[in-house]
Amino acid sequence: MSKPTLSKVVVPAAGLGTRFLPFSKVVPKEMLPIVDKPAVQYIAEEAVASGATQMLLVTSRHKESMEDHFDLAFELEAVLRERKKERELEMLSRLSQLISVAAVRQQQPLGLGHAVLCAKPWTGGEPIGVMLPDDLLEAPTPCMQSLWECFARFGYAMGVVALMEVPWEKTHQYGIAAVEHVDENVVRIRHIVEKPQSNPPSNLAVIGRYMLPPCIFSELEQTGRGAGGEIQLTDALARMLEAPGLLGYLFKGRRFDTGDKLGFLEANVAFALKRPELRAPFLAYLRQLLETEF
Ligand code: G1P
Repeated sequence: MSKPTLSKVVVPAAGLGTRFLPFSKVVPKEMLPIVDKPAVQYIAEEAVASGATQMLLVTSRHKESMEDHFDLAFELEAVLRERKKERELEMLSRLSQLISVAAVRQQQPLGLGHAVLCAKPWTGGEPIGVMLPDDLLEAPTPCMQSLWECFARFGYAMGVVALMEVPWEKTHQYGIAAVEHVDENVVRIRHIVEKPQSNPPSNLAVIGRYMLPPCIFSELEQTGRGAGGEIQLTDALARMLEAPGLLGYLFKGRRFDTGDKLGFLEANVAFALKRPELRAPFLAYLRQLLETEF
């Protein structure tokens, strides 16, 4: 039998995006540009770089533009062809073939756990990657691929989440894990709690990447409302600690929280500086700004 590979990722993207109003009134916050690509495209690119071929967007009303973004834009491509804009044409053609995209509606805002549960019929009993579009991650090996490798290494049974240290005063914003080391990069999670308001068990936070075996769905079905009155993915993960077990992969790259205004601005600066055509003039602008303004 051939070895299993990561094929399906679920991207929960149904949130109202209140932190980005008024922008997010009409345009989904997942469509905010990081330089010239929407945040959700970086997620799709990480999924593809990790081996995935199918992506399910869990959306809500007025968020169709995300699906449109990955679709073939027939009229636009025809105009570009007529105008001999080969580079743009090639870029759009690659985008529409990047990954197979499907969407399902989360009809009620019942939380992240509920959003993932909406994906159940689509997964067909396969393990899934879950990628939160607010977390933009940068590392030599894509984070989702590292999670898959860890999932495979331990027999395709235990769940794996990406973990990263956060400042102690921010632990109340995250799922927080208490762990035992397996090796330098992998830990076994012994305790996990969503957004602890006091006494966080550590400062190791779940960042938005998960590799989940199919049993996640029966756990979610039995998970009641937790923090914020929502069905929390973290609470379903807590039910897996003993069996089949939950691992943490210690992510060492850079993370941007693009759902936060400061994180969004930082991501734009960092990604603009990585573009060869923008780097020199943008750096010159930043230097001048720092000299004249401060
Ligand atoms: C979600 C998860 C939380 C995780 C965080 C990472 O929270 O519920 O466990 O640590 O994403 O970004 P949210 O940011 O949606 O409130």
